[in-house]
Amino acid sequence: MRTPLIAGNWKMYTTPSEASAWMRGLLEDLQSQDVSNVELVLNVPATHLAVLAPIVADTAVALGGQDVSAHAEGAYTGELSAEMLVDAGARYCVVGHSERRQYHHEDDALVRGKVLACMNGGLVPILCVGELESERDAGEHEATVIRQLTGALDGVEISKSEDLVVAYEPVWAIGTGKTATADDAQAMGAVVRSFLKGRYGPLADGIRILYGGSMKPSNADELLAKADVDGGLIGGASLKRDQYLAIAAAAPR
Ligand code: PGA
Repeated sequence: MRTPLIAGNWKMYTTPSEASAWMRGLLEDLQSQDVSNVELVLNVPATHLAVLAPIVADTAVALGGQDVSAHAEGAYTGELSAEMLVDAGARYCVVGHSERRQYHHEDDALVRGKVLACMNGGLVPILCVGELESERDAGEHEATVIRQLTGALDGVEISKSEDLVVAYEPVWAIGTGKTATADDAQAMGAVVRSFLKGRYGPLADGIRILYGGSMKPSNADELLAKADVDGGLIGGASLKRDQYLAIAAAAPR
């Protein structure tokens, strides 16, 4: 019912030229891999979008950004609007990633502004939520995620399930090699689903909930088999074509 979303998050890695070669290689590899059961998205640095867009046009690969301004336009030096990202080739945008929350002090209110900016500008937000290790140790992981969802989705309406993607990324699992167990990922996936049901009713059944945090070929099978893990937000492993494709191959058919 929900098409698994295999979303790479390249963070601040690669140049546009390196990315072009990488993408051409991926398209070649895709000639011998059936990916009809999944949706492939690469969330790349914004400088790469307009370079990669013609390469991926009419292929199974879509592009996304990694951040967006909460404003539609204006005197905001250095910021990029949703409309700019869409025009450059993005269909998705990561919003509220823990690295933005941590290093750029993004709070739930700002994240909400970015979710709305995406929706108003034609981008599908991939809204990231997740607890710190200390919050999990204190048994506050579910409350943390619910607080983040409540803040980021306050008054945010959707008209179809495809308008929103949520990524559960426990902060302690990002880039650390530590992965949440598949059962932990499922448990939080179910918490997120139930929150979304309260907010969006039956539309919640179609909203993709991703897991992110050291997802790799060796754990993707188990994670993606879970009922409320509808894909992955993949950092490190998405920079390696073979690993990214191996994760895509692990998605249920
Ligand atoms: P990781 O990153 O797969 O390298 O842990 C995930 C993310 O930050 O989205």
